Amino acid sequence: MTAFTYKNGELHAEDVALSAIAADVGTPVYVYSVAAMTEAYQRFVEALAGQRAQVCYAMKANSNLAVLRTFADLGAGADVVSDGELARALAAGIPAKRIVYSGVGKTREEMAAGIEAGILQFNVESRPELTALSDIAVSKNATVEIAIRINPDVDAATHNKISTGRKEDKFGIDIARAGEAFAQASTLPGLNPVSIAVHIGSQLTDIAPFRSAFGHVAELTRQLRADGVAISRLDLGGGLGIAYAGERVPTPAEYAAMVAETVGDLDCDLIFEPGRYLTGHAGVLLTRIIFIKDTGERRFVIVDAAMNDLMRPALYGANHSIEQVREPAPNAALGEADIVGPVCETGDTFATAHALTDLPAGELVVIRDTGAYGAVMSSGYNSRPLVPEVLVNGGDYALVRPRETLEQQLDRERFAGWQSPERTSQS
Ligand code: LLP
Repeated sequence: MTAFTYKNGELHAEDVALSAIAADVGTPVYVYSVAAMTEAYQRFVEALAGQRAQVCYAMKANSNLAVLRTFADLGAGADVVSDGELARALAAGIPAKRIVYSGVGKTREEMAAGIEAGILQFNVESRPELTALSDIAVSKNATVEIAIRINPDVDAATHNKISTGRKEDKFGIDIARAGEAFAQASTLPGLNPVSIAVHIGSQLTDIAPFRSAFGHVAELTRQLRADGVAISRLDLGGGLGIAYAGERVPTPAEYAAMVAETVGDLDCDLIFEPGRYLTGHAGVLLTRIIFIKDTGERRFVIVDAAMNDLMRPALYGANHSIEQVREPAPNAALGEADIVGPVCETGDTFATAHALTDLPAGELVVIRDTGAYGAVMSSGYNSRPLVPEVLVNGGDYALVRPRETLEQQLDRERFAGWQSPERTSQS
C-alpha cells in the first residue's frame, strides 16, 4: 500500500491534498502518513507473531516527537543512541523498559542518564565501555542488563557507508573474542550480561547476510550457555531494506522465517530495531519548482528543497523517485530533467536524467520515500531554515515541527566579547 496516491487529479497524503499542505505551510516540507507507518509496523510485528518479539524502533531514522508517539501508541519501544534520543523517546511516552541503548561511543553522562531512566539494556561495543558502564552502575547502586554487540564479519552487501558488520568496521566486538568479553562482563560488578546484539548494516536487499550473521549469533549463544553465561535475549538489530526504485527486497515474512530458522529454537526474547522499514515509505519531501533552466545541453528543474534538507542523494548517491503533484495526463510526453536544489554545490542534485513531464515553474513535486533518514539528517547549510514536518492522519493533518525562522537562526549565535554586541540590523 502507499499512502501517497492521486485522487481527483492530484497527489494526496491519505485524504489530504498535498497542494493544501503546501499552501498552508509552504515548501519545502516533509509530509508523513500515520497510516503508512502503522501498516509497516503491523506488517513487521505480525510476521514475527510466532516469536517473543519486541520492536525497538531505531528512532535515528525519524525522531520527530509525533512520529515517536505514533509508534509508542502501537506498542513500540525504541533503540536510542544519544542523550537527545533518550530524552525524546521518554518524552513521547515510550516506556523505559522498552528502550535499548546502542552506539559505539556512549559518554559517561549518557550511560548515567540511561541507568537513571531504567532502560531495558545497554548494547556494549567494546571492553573499555564494559568497565566504564560497570563503574557508573556501581556508583548508582544499580545492576544493568547488557548485551554485547558482536561483529560477525559479515558483509551486508549494501552501501559501503552503511555497512557495519565487517571486521574493518568500528562496530561491535569481534565474534571470535566475544567469549572473553562475556567472561569479563560476568565478573564486573553492576553488569548482568544477558544478551547478544548484532546489526550488520542498513538497507539490506538480500536475506543471506542476515542469515549468516544470525547463524553466528545462535552458535555463540549455545557456546556461552555451555560456559555458564545465561543468554536469554537476542537483539537482532535493524537493516531490512525498502524498495526505492522498484528493486526486489525481502518481505517481513521472509525475514521472520529466516529468524525462526536461525534463532527460533533458542528460547530467547527477541528484540528488533527496524528504522527505515517503519518510516521510509511513509514520508515525502514536498517541494516547489523555482525555475526551469534549459541550457540546450540539459534541462534543470530547480526546486526549493536542497541537499541540506535531504542529504541521501549527495551523501550516498541514493536514488529517490520524484513525482509531480498535479497528476500527469495518461499520454503526457516525458522528457528528461535534472532535479536540483538551490545550494551552491553540484552535489546538490536529487536526480539526473529523471523522466518528468514538461512542468512549469511554480508546480509542486515530491521526492518519495524520504520518511527515514530525511529530516533527521537535515542541516542549516547555506543558512537555510530547518524544514517543517507535517503528520497526516486520514483527512487531518498537523504541523508537528514548524519551519525554523530566521530570528531563531540568528538567536542561536552570539558576537564575541570584543565585538559590539548589537546586531546592525534585524531581519
Ligand atoms: N540498529 C542499529 C544499531 C543501527 O545502527 C541502525 C542504523 C538501525 C538499527 C536501523 O537500521 P535500519 O532498519 O533503518 O536500516 N543514514 C543512512 C542509514 C544509516 C543507518 C545507521 N544505523 C541512510 O540514509 O541510508
